Amino acid sequence: MGYRDCEIFSVRELSKSYGGVQALKSTTLRFMRNEVHAIVGENGAGKSTLMKIIGGVIQPDSGQMFYKGQEVRFSSPRDSINTGIALIHQELSMMPDLNIIENIFMGRMDSKFGIVRQEDLTSRTQDLLKTVGLDVDPHTLVRKLSLSQRQLVEIAKALSTNANLIMMDEPNSSLTDMESERLFAVIEDLKAKGISILYVSHKIAEVLRISDKVSVLRDGAYVGTLDRADATADRVIQMMIGREMDINKFSRPSQKRRVILRVKGLTGNGFRNISFDLHQGEILGFAGLVGAGRSEVARAIFGATRFSSGSITLDNELVLFDSPSKAIKHGMAMVQEDRKGLSLFMGLSVSENISISALPELSRSGIVNYSKVNEVVTTYKNRLNIKVKDLDEPVSSLSGGNQQKTVLSRWLSTDPRVLILDEPTHGIDIGAKHEIYKLITLLADRGIGILLISSELPEIISMSDRVVVMREGVITATLDKDEITDENIMRCAAYEP
Ligand SMILES: Nc1ncnc2c1ncn2[C@@H]1O[C@H](COP(=O)(O)OP(=O)(O)OP(=O)(O)O)[C@@H](O)[C@H]1O
Ligand SMILES: [Mg+2]
Repeated sequence: MGYRDCEIFSVRELSKSYGGVQALKSTTLRFMRNEVHAIVGENGAGKSTLMKIIGGVIQPDSGQMFYKGQEVRFSSPRDSINTGIALIHQELSMMPDLNIIENIFMGRMDSKFGIVRQEDLTSRTQDLLKTVGLDVDPHTLVRKLSLSQRQLVEIAKALSTNANLIMMDEPNSSLTDMESERLFAVIEDLKAKGISILYVSHKIAEVLRISDKVSVLRDGAYVGTLDRADATADRVIQMMIGREMDINKFSRPSQKRRVILRVKGLTGNGFRNISFDLHQGEILGFAGLVGAGRSEVARAIFGATRFSSGSITLDNELVLFDSPSKAIKHGMAMVQEDRKGLSLFMGLSVSENISISALPELSRSGIVNYSKVNEVVTTYKNRLNIKVKDLDEPVSSLSGGNQQKTVLSRWLSTDPRVLILDEPTHGIDIGAKHEIYKLITLLADRGIGILLISSELPEIISMSDRVVVMREGVITATLDKDEITDENIMRCAAYEP
């Protein structure tokens, strides 16, 4: 027998490079039936590359792959899907102008069933949506869905293929803890049915909880695999970054200074009667379930969407921004949640992406001071450890986490009065997260008011001076430092029974 009975998939000495970057170096791994196998590693370690190769999206330069012991070669995603493999991409990949049913069954609508009965697909989609806990009409256009809802549809789509191996590349990066819980229950269920899961995530605690095995990649190379029993956070992190790290809380002396941003009675699409003060040098956390209206409020303040009533005062001046560029001129900055759609210029270089918003400060009489630009860009590249060979490379060639660091650098370099961060550490590895927390703290110490929207409770709890909790478009609580606890936040964020 060429393979053990329970092996579902293995890769042997798989390598892949992009130009001079070796994304995957001779990696050998084996995945078993009924197994949740996590792949962890810093941003740019090669996790997505491995998954894309197994998913047939890209081809390796060398190495072999085996499905149930038989060698396989995938020249397209279709080959991988037909073999029984499903991939949930890190970057969502749906067609916004098609509805949920069409997105889930795209390309499979006629082949298998002859003439498809629309009602069948509708009811199958309903079942799938129910499984992942998404309560929307299957005919809804994907464009109308929030980021987290799209993520749930991606998961539903993977489930619909009846695959034996499901690869999830950060499937819950936009989901709240509660929504993630349902995903974990789905994973348990799949496992019980004999299905194997390959799971990529930067959330170490959750990886340890749900995985049977944890494999670590560093700089494209395989470092090792730990069994559940031997896997502790310290060991995994040490394997990931090659050194020990202190992941303790950030604590800052809380200091109340003058109000820099005052929002009063703000009402608009998705939120009502929102009032709060943001002080100079304060980190004000915004907690709540996805769909609670936090991003909508932030976008309205930033001038990206309209509100119907209420007022915004910035440094005692009543302001009304009809576009983000007006807000930026007044010293506001915002890192949006969806980096691909809203924050990055995929066609521009890393350097241009970092410096674009700071160009006015880096120029004199319209002439850009390139040595200054270079200095700023290099500073942020080093601080956040952005993994890129050449800063003139297009930002599209960066790994997901490194793209996020680029977006952050762009706004951090503008030196704003008020900085709105919407899920700033999505998809960012633990070492870089630490750097970002340090930076945010530093900015607050410099007097910048920071509005931090985050669905990661540990992040909210350790970073915030005060926390605003929202539920279904309204503020349900404003917690002072000593009231900020898991229970308090969850109680105010969760739906009343
Ligand atoms: N299309 C591409 N062109 C050039 N380089 C690429 C391309 N895709 C990936 N890379 C490089 O390959 C390396 C591995 O990237 P990969 O996306 O696999 O990392 P990752 O482990 O998934 O990181 P993250 O946690 O940030 O998602 C990175 O250095 C990245 O910049
Ligand atoms: Mg990735």
